[in-house]
Amino acid sequence: MKVLISGGAGYIGSTIASALLDGEHTPVLLDSLVTGRKEFTKDRIFYEADIADRAMVRTIFSDHPDIEATIHCAALIVVGIGCQTLRVLQRKCRQIDGVL
Ligand SMILES: NC(=O)c1ccc[n+]([C@@H]2O[C@H](COP(=O)([O-])OP(=O)(O)OC[C@H]3O[C@@H](n4cnc5c(N)ncnc54)[C@H](O)[C@@H]3O)[C@@H](O)[C@H]2O)c1
Repeated sequence: MKVLISGGAGYIGSTIASALLDGEHTPVLLDSLVTGRKEFTKDRIFYEADIADRAMVRTIFSDHPDIEATIHCAALIVVGIGCQTLRVLQRKCRQIDGVL
């Protein structure tokens, strides 16, 4: 079975990928590497992109139409990074509001 794992270069995602390989399944990793580790993707099918990158998600499903499940592990678990991202998003929203 082929399984897409978002956050596949992170702690939980890469561990799930190892378990899938042990069970003779095929993990397909999607990770922006914002905090993930490239070495966790070694010898694995890997796409470096943000989960919000729709074009890349389409490419992945077009390259792997046999993906049967998705496991979502992409996350910003460090509060500082999460807050920093939130502040950037808030600023962007204000800019968009301004333009509108
Ligand atoms: N680590 C634990 O003990 C634990 C326990 C229970 C639940 N969880 C949950 O599991 C999830 C993953 O945790 P983790 O410990 O593996 O964290 P992690 O930081 O090791 O992995 C998260 C991965 O997501 C990637 N990522 C973040 N934002 C992304 C985006 N927008 N697009 C693509 N990739 C993105 C990061 O680069 C990273 O590789 C979290 O939701 C966490 O709350 C973790």
